[in-house]
Amino acid sequence: MSEVSDRGSDTFDNAAKASYRSRHLGVLREQVPELWNDEGRPRLRGAWLELMGATGWRTLRLLVDEGALTPSAFVGVDLDAVRIADYRARYPDARWLAGDVLDHVHRPDLEDVSVVHFDGYEAAGGRRLEHVGEQLSPLLRRAVARFGAAVLLWNADLDATRRLGQPAARALRLHATTLAAVLQGAVGARREFGAEGLLAAGAEHVVTDAAFVGLVGAFEIYRGKGGGHRMACLRAVLR
Ligand SMILES: C[S@@+](CC[C@H](N)C(=O)[O-])C[C@H]1O[C@@H](n2cnc3c(N)ncnc32)[C@H](O)[C@@H]1O
Repeated sequence: MSEVSDRGSDTFDNAAKASYRSRHLGVLREQVPELWNDEGRPRLRGAWLELMGATGWRTLRLLVDEGALTPSAFVGVDLDAVRIADYRARYPDARWLAGDVLDHVHRPDLEDVSVVHFDGYEAAGGRRLEHVGEQLSPLLRRAVARFGAAVLLWNADLDATRRLGQPAARALRLHATTLAAVLQGAVGARREFGAEGLLAAGAEHVVTDAAFVGLVGAFEIYRGKGGGHRMACLRAVLR
């Protein structure tokens, strides 16, 4: 396993990404008791949905090795049908879907999903965010109704729009504003999700320093590839 991501060859098989994956589990264990069965060995209630790429199997292995779930509670999705066929052959007990996850939201295989790892590396603050969020909303609402909570792990490329003239701080602010609207849409009137609850006013400016990694508001900023783009991850708990 190398130290940093090599995005060019889609190998997200490195120490930075491994600790990013384990932090998901930490947040789930510490902050979302509703999603754990406490009979004997704690297991996640509901299924975990993962955008796979070449290395999503690392998430599957982590969850299974940690005893958080059995493979049958893991749903792997990817746009690439060949990749999914390959995963199905390697891990026949997990659930596999080829195509755009947004087209699968109402399929029976996704009915019991309680955790969504939306790890598509789209641009933070990008224009597709809102659309993706709207499409995922029914799934998240279903999980809250069934389990009392849902978790959305949303990983976005913080520096993607820099070359288009949009600095990272502005991208992060836009990202927070859009995601707050997405989360609000998913929970309805039960709870208020303001952008400033995710990212206090002015806090975004810390990412102007291109060397900054760490926590800012509800976002974890980390760097995969050395000298490459930083990622912004939001781990949102919906109730
Ligand atoms: C960065 S990789 C995922 C890495 C993996 N989660 C891990 O932990 O190593 C992103 C993958 O998401 C897939 N993807 C992006 N948007 C998608 C969508 N809307 N539906 C299905 N797959 C999607 C892409 O095909 C790509 O292979």
